[in-house]
Amino acid sequence: MKTSTLRITAAAAAALLAVSFAALAYAKTITLPPDGAQLKPSDLPGYALARKDCVVCHSAEYMLYQPPTAPRAYWEAMVKRMRDVFKAPVPEGDIAPIVDYLVKTYGNEQAK
Ligand code: HEC
Repeated sequence: MKTSTLRITAAAAAALLAVSFAALAYAKTITLPPDGAQLKPSDLPGYALARKDCVVCHSAEYMLYQPPTAPRAYWEAMVKRMRDVFKAPVPEGDIAPIVDYLVKTYGNEQAK
């Protein structure tokens, strides 16, 4: 009798576990923001450079949350701040193409 009680308890525990795993997986899925994790693809040369230099420490969500009215100078200051303050390894030659990509993809030079 003891054994059957145990068996039921084990089955209940297994079921509970399965439910909580499902809940966990579900919670994970719904907290992901839409299209947030990746940089927006582009034919601009700065796209590849930004993928190399700008998503090492954080996701591309950070670009998405900048104002779409942000001008070129804003993005240039942003890239330089990443390099100077946070020591982002951005080679000097990458800055101009990355800024060009950012302002045309997330800033005020987006194609309408
Ligand atoms: C070495 C790590 C590192 C790299 C590489 C890096 N960042 Fe950041 N970035 C940070 C940190 C840390 C923050 C958060 C700063 C804060 O909360 O004030 C941040 C925040 C941001 C933000 C949010 C706005 C803000 O002012 O905080 C943007 C936009 C951004 N980064 C863009 C870039 C771009 C573009 C590049 C590539 C040139 C880049 N990041 C590369 C570390 C990095």
